[in-house]
Amino acid sequence: MRRKLIVGNWKMNGSHAANAELLAGLQAQGPWVAEVAVCAPFPYLAEVALSPQGSLIAWGAQDCSAHEAGAYTGEVSAAMLAEFGCRYVLIGHSERRQLYGETDAQAAAKFAAVKAAGMTPILCVGETLQERDAGKTEQVVARQLSAVDFKDGVLAYEPVWAIGTGRNATPEQAQAVHAFLRRKVSSDTPILYGGSVKPQNAAAIFAMPDVDGGLVGGASLVAKDFLDIVKAAGT
Ligand code: 13P
Repeated sequence: MRRKLIVGNWKMNGSHAANAELLAGLQAQGPWVAEVAVCAPFPYLAEVALSPQGSLIAWGAQDCSAHEAGAYTGEVSAAMLAEFGCRYVLIGHSERRQLYGETDAQAAAKFAAVKAAGMTPILCVGETLQERDAGKTEQVVARQLSAVDFKDGVLAYEPVWAIGTGRNATPEQAQAVHAFLRRKVSSDTPILYGGSVKPQNAAAIFAMPDVDGGLVGGASLVAKDFLDIVKAAGT
């Protein structure tokens, strides 16, 4: 069985002091049972990379520009991230889609930019509660996935209703969508689950046959919780 991948998404959280404490807390004994990565805000990426834990964990960004370079004030290009050793970039996170109006087409362009720069995009897909209640879950995630020329990436299923709500998808709900997505990507594509992953529910979710790891928001900000989630990936 392939090692699971656990990715922490700090979202817009952190400070020098908080990052130092969190990274020090991630000092794990012995080999990690799972592959571990942390997606930090741009200004803190180097802090993660240069920390003693930086050599043990991969690191990633939460977004990047679809453009190569030029007059795009406020943007950060994929090439800039790659130059610093960034491995992963989250693409199409539901907060980008919902709060900043990111479209499937923009996600597709960013996905391509990340790949062109030699990094691994983590494409996020997921339905809202309204879409789930209307029986449209598969339709929505299929649309979000098919908009992208998906190859050599990581896929993350993050039901919007489970993000930051404390209401995770049940292992069976996650498995059903993962199995659906699995049929649409190559068999070696890691498919992560995200949405209120906590130490208490991680093992049951990760035990599902098509769940290859997790994309963890809130719990990645607490070192012990994040480590416990990583450990759950090895059980
Ligand atoms: P929570 O784990 O806080 O629900 O966030 C999930 C998420 O959006 C990770 O990208």
